[in-house]
Amino acid sequence: MAADAPNLERPLVLGIESSCDETAVALVAADRTILAEAIASQEAEHAPYGGVVPEIAARAHADRIAPMVAGVLERAGVTLSGVDAIAATAGPGLIGGVMVGLVSGKALAMAADKPLLAVNHLEGHALSPRLADASLDFPYLLLLVSGGHCQILAVEGVGRYRRLATTIDDALGEAFDKTAKILRLGYPGGPAVERLAQEGDPANLRLPRPLAGSKEPHFSFAGLKSAVLRAHESGEHARADIAAAFQQAAVDCLVDRLEHALARIGPMPALVVAGGVAANRSVRAALEALAGRHAMRFVAPPLALCTDNAAMIAWAGCERLALEGGTAGDPLDIRARPRWPLDPQAEAVRGAGVKA
Ligand code: KG4
Ligand code: ZN
Repeated sequence: MAADAPNLERPLVLGIESSCDETAVALVAADRTILAEAIASQEAEHAPYGGVVPEIAARAHADRIAPMVAGVLERAGVTLSGVDAIAATAGPGLIGGVMVGLVSGKALAMAADKPLLAVNHLEGHALSPRLADASLDFPYLLLLVSGGHCQILAVEGVGRYRRLATTIDDALGEAFDKTAKILRLGYPGGPAVERLAQEGDPANLRLPRPLAGSKEPHFSFAGLKSAVLRAHESGEHARADIAAAFQQAAVDCLVDRLEHALARIGPMPALVVAGGVAANRSVRAALEALAGRHAMRFVAPPLALCTDNAAMIAWAGCERLALEGGTAGDPLDIRARPRWPLDPQAEAVRGAGVKA
């Protein structure tokens, strides 16, 4: 039986996100209104382990998604039959959690008799700046920096992503989290490292900038993390100086690799940053300066849209409805994918993380 045709005037899309350690649900209209959203962090569950435990994450998603969907619909004053499509993250991510969210989305799509849109989590991040800013047109250069990914993408349109660089080992958020672990700052580490870095002086310690200046386009952060460990174990440096030096080295790597990408592909109208690390003020300031040097617009979505959330998944669904109209929808037997590159042409490189 075909699903009911969506209302294409101002469709309402229910988004579900469960690929890592945030359970999130949002109802978004195609005119960019977020009617209601809910986000439940699992920080407390994972904190004792210093990182996300996949089995605990999947169970927590399973407990929370259904009541969160009910709460979001109630607050928006919309019944399930008033929703025009269900968008759920189908990967990449921790597979147990992705399966929980995707199966929930399938069940809701069946119950409402509306299309299911299986969304790539990275596409959610890539398009989220357009939810916040209606004037952001394609193409743009995107730096996606999160706990599982560090990529530079040319975003040419919905479903048209050219990967220009990725990490050959750790993602930048992961490097922040590992630095926080070494410096005993707790989990999640990014904000804690940023806070401590404000009290330190990066000039007191020189850390490596892996691959900076290299002819190849990619990122690498494993060597930087090891250097942080050595600096800490030497006992010769204040923790705040190590945090500051780490952050400065990371920022320099981002700028170097973006310069490399721009030299390769030529001018782009806008530089956009997305993913959890985009919350970092030093990162934002350096990117803004880089955009200024290249006469590019700089767009950084509000922090709540930078970290994992369901509004970006619902919005990716809205973008697909706008593009594909009444034909939009994925089969109900579509699979959850632990890995799902945005650019299928991009060559695989060693070590890229599975989280997003
Ligand atoms: O996109 P996100 O919420 O989740 C995924 O990884 O998909 O990103 C989370 C990552 C974590 O590694 C966290 O430490 C990092 O973003 N992060 C930060 C900051 N806030 C979050 N890194 C540096 N500075 C921050 N202020
Ligand atoms: Zn993410």
